[in-house]
Amino acid sequence: MSEQKKGREITISVLKFNPQSKISKPHYVDYKLEETPGMTLFIALTKIREEYDPDLSFDFVCRAGICGSCGMVVNGKPALACRTLIANYPEGKLTLLPMPAFELIKDLSINTGKWMDSMSKRVESWIVDNSEKEVDISKLEERVDPDIADQTFELDRCIECGICVASCGTMLMRPNFVGPVGMNRVARFEVDPHDKRPKHLPLQNKIAYLRRKLVALR
Ligand code: SF4
Ligand code: FES
Repeated sequence: MSEQKKGREITISVLKFNPQSKISKPHYVDYKLEETPGMTLFIALTKIREEYDPDLSFDFVCRAGICGSCGMVVNGKPALACRTLIANYPEGKLTLLPMPAFELIKDLSINTGKWMDSMSKRVESWIVDNSEKEVDISKLEERVDPDIADQTFELDRCIECGICVASCGTMLMRPNFVGPVGMNRVARFEVDPHDKRPKHLPLQNKIAYLRRKLVALR
């Protein structure tokens, strides 16, 4: 029987740090492992945690680029671990850091949820309808133009991974920065006919309106 071909050896270097511990200091740990066909960074990290270091912390839920949990900095660029193929790194060396701008929980695990919650409140990411119209839940929902429904659906595709925020240094200088994810939320309610906030302002006025709101919240 022919011997199975071995995969190449890869090195994954992770910045480990536990901000909850009084004795922990940020330090890199190198893990060497064999690459398997189609291996993603998520699979590699799971293997490391199962076989070498049960203490390694990182986040994931869906493993399919949907939940937005697994963002981390890979060789200097924020990326989703579950959508990162090891084969795309021909040198076989990956250095991982937690995404900046978010609260660090431990190692590669960060609290994007806390930031997203505060951003949602800042841009009032919900339907606003002050008409005080009673909602009759026994009736069918109001029909929405399919083109408008498509636009809303497209803008709802943001998975709130935080990569756009971590990719931009502005957040580190201005804590009120809402980033592309925040602008996307504004656009989502702008196109939704259920939202009765003033529409059809020129783009400059919309940006100025948003700026004034954010300044008022400082
Ligand atoms: S807009 Fe930002 S948070 Fe939303 S999916 Fe894109 S990179 Fe992720
Ligand atoms: S684990 Fe859900 S996006 Fe990567």
